[in-house]
Amino acid sequence: MYKSKAYSAASATAPLASTSISRRDPTERDVQIDILFCGICHSDYHQVRSEWKDSIPTVYPIVPGHEIVGRVTKVGSAVTKYKVGDLAAVGCMVDSDGTCAQCKAGLEQFCRNVTFTYNSPDRHLGGVTYGGYSQSIVVNERFVLRVPSALDPAGAAPLLCAGITTYSPMRHWGVTKGQKVGIIGLGGLGHMGVKFAHAFGAHVVVFTHSPNKKEEALRLGADEVVVSRNTGEMQKHAGSFDFILDTVSADHDINAYINLLRIDGNITVVGAPEKPLGVLAFSLIFGRRTLSGSNIGGIAETQEMLDFCGQHHITADVEVIPIQKVNEAYDRLIKSDVKYRFSIDMASFRSESRH
Ligand SMILES: NC(=O)c1ccc[n+]([C@@H]2O[C@H](COP(=O)([O-])OP(=O)(O)OC[C@H]3O[C@@H](n4cnc5c(N)ncnc54)[C@H](OP(=O)(O)O)[C@@H]3O)[C@@H](O)[C@H]2O)c1
Ligand SMILES: [Zn+2]
Ligand SMILES: [Zn+2]
Repeated sequence: MYKSKAYSAASATAPLASTSISRRDPTERDVQIDILFCGICHSDYHQVRSEWKDSIPTVYPIVPGHEIVGRVTKVGSAVTKYKVGDLAAVGCMVDSDGTCAQCKAGLEQFCRNVTFTYNSPDRHLGGVTYGGYSQSIVVNERFVLRVPSALDPAGAAPLLCAGITTYSPMRHWGVTKGQKVGIIGLGGLGHMGVKFAHAFGAHVVVFTHSPNKKEEALRLGADEVVVSRNTGEMQKHAGSFDFILDTVSADHDINAYINLLRIDGNITVVGAPEKPLGVLAFSLIFGRRTLSGSNIGGIAETQEMLDFCGQHHITADVEVIPIQKVNEAYDRLIKSDVKYRFSIDMASFRSESRH
């Protein structure tokens, strides 16, 4: 084992604070990575603040972070895919059984024995896994991704969760040229959803509750922007969408959006608010519409998404911060005050070693 600096929260009300955690020495198939950047996902916030306690209880202390890009510093003797010096990435998962039907289908995110990057039972060290708000991480090579060299590492980090979570459902539901696609919420996930839907050739409509994001949404690739509080504007789109992606992190009325779907249209929920969504049966019944969910994406599809981003020069729009500003970033995240993802520069840990 070796020690790595990290930021952890001791309880649902405690701020994140500097600490030291243990990482395993790489075993045969492991890759050791020095983390360069880690994105701040709203799921980090939900779990640090124990907002998902009924579905995914938080074990404290928690070290969040699952949008990781770094440099390989060590590899186990049986590792074939990576070598020291490679740029590599880790997303929301670090292990799975590799044998079940889901794993064989490349859907590791649905494996009953999946190990998430943080707040998941750690099969090597006991306790729970610790995520990317740290200097270094050790991961089985099956769960390490290759980052196209053309991509800026700070902006590439959020692709590992915000990217794949929006790419995967749009691929699954066949979003393609000429379709009308809605993206609800212009945050970390939402702004990636806009970039992908635009790249797939769809007509993209952004729904935002922040009127000041209108111009920005157009710059990011939206064709139209609707301020969701404006019911007149909403009504103009009734019954017209092929597909809508709901990325909202807080309580909201999903029926207002279901009614905008055409017959047989689909709305996929990826946002995971603390409270249940109240779905009116008639919103679905009239129009044979479907409501579904989606959880990140499998490893092969994550690599496909990264390669797509390499070809199309797609990264997240990030505000790079030192790790010492993480609590301030959390306060701003819940006010939707970031364009559009915080990316933590782990070089900032170096300033702490002098103390
Ligand atoms: N399913 C998955 O696999 C998966 C993966 C990652 C994250 N998630 C979940 O997806 C959600 C979004 O994550 P994120 O990192 O993109 O968060 P984020 O950056 O905070 O974006 C969420 C957006 O939701 C909108 N919003 C926030 N509060 C709202 C309110 N009260 N009413 C209406 N709209 C509101 C805001 O967009 P506007 O300002 O434009 O309205 C905000 O930018 C979170 O719940 C997260 O846990 C799920
Ligand atoms: Zn995430
Ligand atoms: Zn499995």
